[in-house]
Amino acid sequence: MTGVLVTGGAGFIGCNFVRFALKGRPEWRVVVLDALTYAGNLENLQGLEEAYPGRYRFVRGDVTDSALLEKLFGEEGFEYVVHFAAESHVDRSILGPLAFVRTNVLGTAALLEVARLAWKEKKGRYLQVSTDEVYGALGEEGAFTESTPLDPSSPYSASKAAADHLVLAYHRTFGLEAVLTRCCNNYGPYQFPEKLIPFMIVRALDGKPCPVYGQGQNVRDWIHVQDHNRGVLLALEKGRPGEVYNLGARCERRNLDIVRALLTELSVLKGWDISRLEERIAFVKDRPGHDWRYAIDPGKAERELGFTPQVPFEEGLRDTVAWYLQNEGWWRRILSGEYLEFVKKLYGTQA
Ligand code: NAD
Ligand code: TYD
Repeated sequence: MTGVLVTGGAGFIGCNFVRFALKGRPEWRVVVLDALTYAGNLENLQGLEEAYPGRYRFVRGDVTDSALLEKLFGEEGFEYVVHFAAESHVDRSILGPLAFVRTNVLGTAALLEVARLAWKEKKGRYLQVSTDEVYGALGEEGAFTESTPLDPSSPYSASKAAADHLVLAYHRTFGLEAVLTRCCNNYGPYQFPEKLIPFMIVRALDGKPCPVYGQGQNVRDWIHVQDHNRGVLLALEKGRPGEVYNLGARCERRNLDIVRALLTELSVLKGWDISRLEERIAFVKDRPGHDWRYAIDPGKAERELGFTPQVPFEEGLRDTVAWYLQNEGWWRRILSGEYLEFVKKLYGTQA
């Protein structure tokens, strides 16, 4: 058995990765470490203990807790670490940056240090899941390559950039076998309904306006979570230590076009009057420091890792809308009091 630690496995990308890995790597024993913050949800991992007896363990805990990390490394003898755990939402980082520094910077530092000590004798491999947001904003032209200088705009992306530097420093200084991936915006099942796509779906289903920042002309580069996870697995197993791999599917879209596509799909499925679609959109105050455009050049991952995204965007978006319709109970249960408070604080009376 190969011991694999997956941090943040109860969150959106992590839970999809855990399912994908348990299915695709029968020799893996996967231990999920997750603090179950507002974004972590045990329902996302339901049924795995029964489906994969002896191959899956859940531990509730914090990545900043070095003693717990040491204990887990001692018990499980991990050969791989995949570090997803993070505070992940830009708007929350504007309202409260310190949680981002704590989890994203200190959490990564704690994990790196415990891995370094544990892997002095028997080597292991570490994969840091990072984001294209560390590169900052693009204008209308060009794309991020791995050598684009880091220039983060938000407390979220700054904390992720700090963590990236630590990972690369641990490789250079201590020879830690660490690989870094930087991916563009993900979408798909189990995404917490604060991010653009699921947020707009649940707002529309509740008959509430969809709040589009500014004029909705900002561009994001989109990838289905399953394709991101294919890249993470490839980088973990085949990536060269100390290297960064950008992951993306060459799929740029303006925010407003995404919102319109979602509302069109929902209108078809729910029989809404399509001629009144625009009435469901509310243009609201722009996000402070809002990055204009992201675009990933995934050429290096394609060449070196054989990375090839497989989910066409329009198909993936349709499937995602269908998933949120079929799993209404899932998102209704997580729309907790704390979450509603956050929405009220962020959007005020505008939406
Ligand atoms: P998410 O917010 O849905 O999930 C984060 C998970 O981490 C949750 O389960 C949460 O409980 C857990 N967590 C938070 N703080 C923790 C702590 N201190 N200790 C242990 N667990 C903790 O995030 P996501 O969208 O699944 O993102 C996962 C990773 O991928 C993050 O590192 C993020 O920066 C990166 N990423 C995300 C995207 C995207 O589009 N969502 C794109 C590129 C990279
Ligand atoms: P988001 O899903 O928060 O991801 P990120 O900021 O990490 O790219 O937002 C995606 C884009 O959608 C971003 O340009 C901000 C915009 N947006 C809105 O216009 N309205 C919203 O309510 C949200 C959550 C995002």
